[in-house]
Amino acid sequence: MTQPFDDGADRVERVEHRWAAVSVVIVVLLVVIATFAGLYQAAMPQARVETVDPRTLHLGGEFIESNLGSALEPDGSVTVRGIGQQYSFTPACMLVPTDTPVRFRATSADVVHGFLITGTNINLMLVPGYVSSLNARFETPGERLMPCHEFCGMGHEGMWGRIKVVDKAAFARLAADRRRLSCVE
Ligand code: CUA
Repeated sequence: MTQPFDDGADRVERVEHRWAAVSVVIVVLLVVIATFAGLYQAAMPQARVETVDPRTLHLGGEFIESNLGSALEPDGSVTVRGIGQQYSFTPACMLVPTDTPVRFRATSADVVHGFLITGTNINLMLVPGYVSSLNARFETPGERLMPCHEFCGMGHEGMWGRIKVVDKAAFARLAADRRRLSCVE
């Protein structure tokens, strides 16, 4: 003797099990993709949290204006310090050498801005109160754009910076007689 109601319940249960399995597969797939991106495509999470007072950036410390730009370190690496503010970056054009470890250190003087270098995987948020830091390396000379990619107010679309990659030797020559470098004319 057939029981039509039980048949229906069985079918519903089978369909539910199938969809439960599909959703578990989707979650596992996303974890695999995130792990792959992290390991092989160098997605780089923030290494640690460093804070800075956005109200006193211009008065002293690491992000005072005279300390912004590119600094050649004793070990041959380069540190680039910058600030984002409504609606520009300082320096507006950052100078870096090829074939050299480069560390970006940047923060915001007001609201959240984006720090992205086109054609690379360099992509940071500049959050007031925090230092954003990232290691990078540039292989070929050239100029790249740095559009702010976090909505930061009415002038957001006009907030662009540039980054100029120059030959390592040319950078060393420029660094010989200047403490901080940029390509702002
Ligand atoms: Cu700064 Cu958008």
